[in-house]
Amino acid sequence: MTVSLEQLRRCQVAVDLGAARTRVFVKGMGLVVDEPSVAAVNTRTGSLLAVGTFAEQMTGRTPGYIRVVRPVSGGTVVDIDMARRMLGQLLGDKLRRRLRRTPNLRAAACTPHESDPLAQRATVETLVGLGARRVELVDTLIAAAVGCGLPVEQPTATMIMVCGAATTQIAVLSLGSIVTAERIPVGGEAIDRAVVQHLRQHHELLLPSQSVRPLQLALSGNGLFLDGPESTEIHGRDVATGLARSVRVETAAVREAINTPLTAVLDGIGRVLRGCPPDLVADLSDRGIMMVGGSALLPGLEQMLRNATGMPVNVAERPDICTVLGLGAMLEGKIEPMTLAPLTS
Ligand SMILES: Nc1ncnc2c1ncn2[C@@H]1O[C@H](COP(=O)(O)OP(=O)(O)OP(=O)(O)O)[C@@H](O)[C@H]1O
Ligand SMILES: [Mg+2]
Repeated sequence: MTVSLEQLRRCQVAVDLGAARTRVFVKGMGLVVDEPSVAAVNTRTGSLLAVGTFAEQMTGRTPGYIRVVRPVSGGTVVDIDMARRMLGQLLGDKLRRRLRRTPNLRAAACTPHESDPLAQRATVETLVGLGARRVELVDTLIAAAVGCGLPVEQPTATMIMVCGAATTQIAVLSLGSIVTAERIPVGGEAIDRAVVQHLRQHHELLLPSQSVRPLQLALSGNGLFLDGPESTEIHGRDVATGLARSVRVETAAVREAINTPLTAVLDGIGRVLRGCPPDLVADLSDRGIMMVGGSALLPGLEQMLRNATGMPVNVAERPDICTVLGLGAMLEGKIEPMTLAPLTS
């Protein structure tokens, strides 16, 4: 994927179609959409009933003829038509019409590192369906690094970790390109799933997916991996009887449950470091790892990585929107090497 900054400057709109959230940046307007990548469809008529936050709230609460779908899965558009309709609705009538009227509309989109040609094609087709004449694809890792102000164009190594919902991408960057990178099919969703499964297996409790975040917060204290409260009470539904019930959940047991997905991430960091030339590894031990992506907000994850790797770890400011803002900065021509803020550790 080689796209020049010159080509990106000609784009008017930047899109990050994520497994969890869809974000759109319009040149001159900034971030205009940041909503869940969810659509609710009436299966009898095929019409779109709701998108974004409203559609997400419908999850698990709909009658049989309404289906809540996620057109993006594992960082890839899996239903092009639905993704296009969802994106159109999220933009709203006014903005959609404005973009359609733009002569020779060009769009930029980020795609996961080393995504296959089919996945890239699906992203392009989605945006073409919205009226784009040309679509430029940018590696998510590069967009994220620009978005959090890493000095990507300098001859020093920087390590970035994009913690998404479906994937975690880790890379060492130097001189504006990727030296080594790994894409691991584990993200925030896998961690949430591990918590839900733990409650099901050990407490025979069905936990609604929306309750995972409050549980993590209740257990976290100083972070899920440090000394927070020992246990907390959580409400759910009994697996056998279906009746509402509450149980006391131990912090240590939840920590144990999410160990498997976290080990996969730590293994990924190890592989990236092993594939990196020794001079760059020396830079990294000073500069450390910059975390971006929504899952970087998981309480205590930063400290856990610090303990496990012995390197400095920082979470970007607004890690969830870093990638789309980086793409936006490229569109607006704001990324001269000298304007990039130095990394603090
Ligand atoms: N405060 C928080 N604490 C813990 N996890 C969080 C928090 N906020 C968001 N997340 C998690 O972050 C994930 C969403 O992150 P992000 O928006 O970067 O994903 P995405 O870009 O849609 O996914 P992908 O890049 O994998 O396609 C979700 O799994 C969500 O549960
Ligand atoms: Mg993402």
